[in-house]
Amino acid sequence: MRPALRHLPRRAVRPTPPAPRPTLTAPLPSKSRPFTSTPPHNHNHTPSSASVNETEISHFSALASSWWDPHGPSRPLHLMNPLRHDFIQRCLSTSPESTPSSFKLRYLDVGCGGGIFAESAARLPSTQSVTAIDPSPTILAVAREHARRDPALVGSKGRLTYVNTTIEELPLPEERSDRYDVVTLFEVLEHVDYPAAFLDRVGEFVRPGGWLVLSTIARTWMSWFTTKLVAEDVLGMVPRGTHDWEKYVNEDELRGYFAKKGGQWGAPRVMGVVYVPGVGWREVTGSERIGNYFFGVQRLS
Ligand SMILES: C[S@@+](CC[C@H](N)C(=O)[O-])C[C@H]1O[C@@H](n2cnc3c(N)ncnc32)[C@H](O)[C@@H]1O
Repeated sequence: MRPALRHLPRRAVRPTPPAPRPTLTAPLPSKSRPFTSTPPHNHNHTPSSASVNETEISHFSALASSWWDPHGPSRPLHLMNPLRHDFIQRCLSTSPESTPSSFKLRYLDVGCGGGIFAESAARLPSTQSVTAIDPSPTILAVAREHARRDPALVGSKGRLTYVNTTIEELPLPEERSDRYDVVTLFEVLEHVDYPAAFLDRVGEFVRPGGWLVLSTIARTWMSWFTTKLVAEDVLGMVPRGTHDWEKYVNEDELRGYFAKKGGQWGAPRVMGVVYVPGVGWREVTGSERIGNYFFGVQRLS
């Protein structure tokens, strides 16, 4: 049996492709990433940072100063932002009775980075508040500094609050109805340790009737080719080591995870997206089984 992926040593910066050697027409791998909620007994994280991988945090912290450069390493995140809002609107329109259009939304953005999504969400007239958290103090300093340029975002009348913390440390609102309308997790799941335990915790912050919306990358030969070989090694669109292919999460693994939660979550909505150089991200039906995708699921109870 394949060992649990999270127990494997970190890969070298330049990865060797998974065997057998991928070809563009190879069938998609069928092995699934073990998706269990319990970290192994010998893991050396404290409960307050169980999901945090220090190597990942150092990697992103080193990118902090260029976070808001639309032509820098975070360019793909900048270009993805409009699709995030489109996808959230689609999710909310699935159940208009749970979030009427007059409703002002409370967002929790987990792993907010420099605040590309958090700032844009806070500017929407339909937003009541955005709480944005990230474990990296370096990145959060950049996020706070950037938000300060817009007095409407922060300060006594601002809707945006940054907190340098982990989801494990963030206090859970006591009343279930005080939890968040939309909890977002954009391009974070593939960077955490123990993703199922992480999702267990993140899911607790969604109010009944609210949505958990995330984006991540499927673990396929094609995603290795596009995100590791082309984006990191050939084109240098993002720095080497940004991604660890083995930590990618397939859409069916996420579906299985939520389906096993005893009816707590509704049927997922999914949108596959493809990055077209020079154009940006485009929705491509079915591509969620190949590479980048959005995944939204409503909390029922
Ligand atoms: C690819 S960036 C995405 C940033 C932001 N969500 C965006 O899309 O613009 C990944 C972010 O996840 C954060 N991160 C990594 N591990 C995390 C964890 N265990 N909990 C929360 N955030 C984490 C990193 O610090 C980094 O800011």
